[in-house]
Amino acid sequence: MEKVFQIAIDGPSGAGKSTIAKELAKALCIDYIDTGAMYRAVAYKMLQKRIDLSEKDAIKVMLKNTDINFSKGETVLDGKVISDQIRTPEISRLASTVSALTEVREKLVASQRDMGSTKSVIMDGRDIGTNVFPKAKYKFFLTASVEERARRRWQELKEKGQPMDLSQVVADIEERDRNDSMRVLNPLRKAEDAVVLDTTGFSIEEVTAFILKMIN
Ligand code: DC
Repeated sequence: MEKVFQIAIDGPSGAGKSTIAKELAKALCIDYIDTGAMYRAVAYKMLQKRIDLSEKDAIKVMLKNTDINFSKGETVLDGKVISDQIRTPEISRLASTVSALTEVREKLVASQRDMGSTKSVIMDGRDIGTNVFPKAKYKFFLTASVEERARRRWQELKEKGQPMDLSQVVADIEERDRNDSMRVLNPLRKAEDAVVLDTTGFSIEEVTAFILKMIN
């Protein structure tokens, strides 16, 4: 393997990208960058600062003064760990909307390219293989049925003490799928040269082992 390489993992919400990417990063001893967490962090900051989506100038100023990083598996916004605060259904919805804004994408994509150009990384998101690192050495597109993705998210929320109706989780996932794939700027799309993996009915261990075998 060459010294610096990127592994891109794209796909819709709940396809298992982050869980599998974390496992792969551990096995390969490289950094994991959760780009969805970066869009969530921006959404969280806008909510905290009560900045509306239409306030373009305020958004630009805010972005100039925003630092998003990862440390020991935690998402750090302006020096504060916000990993738990950004995993709520409200932030999920807002992140999907905020991620369609040109200013936000420009800033975060530049930062993601920076993070992955000097060291090997595994990065998951929606546009990694198509836009952030179109020349990534390995590209995977993970998907699963809407029902399975909603069930996984429902289980996750229940375990965190944030129970929700399964039908509401299905509706949320369908709406985010629509938003993420219909937006004009870098929508959720499979790169032509990405390997598609439908994870419906497969365990995390099975998918991780399959990807590792393809990489090695
Ligand atoms: O992966 P996630 O659910 O944490 O992502 C939150 C939102 O961020 C998602 O609805 C779409 C957006 N996103 C994006 O537009 N591009 C990425 N590379 C990653 C996430």
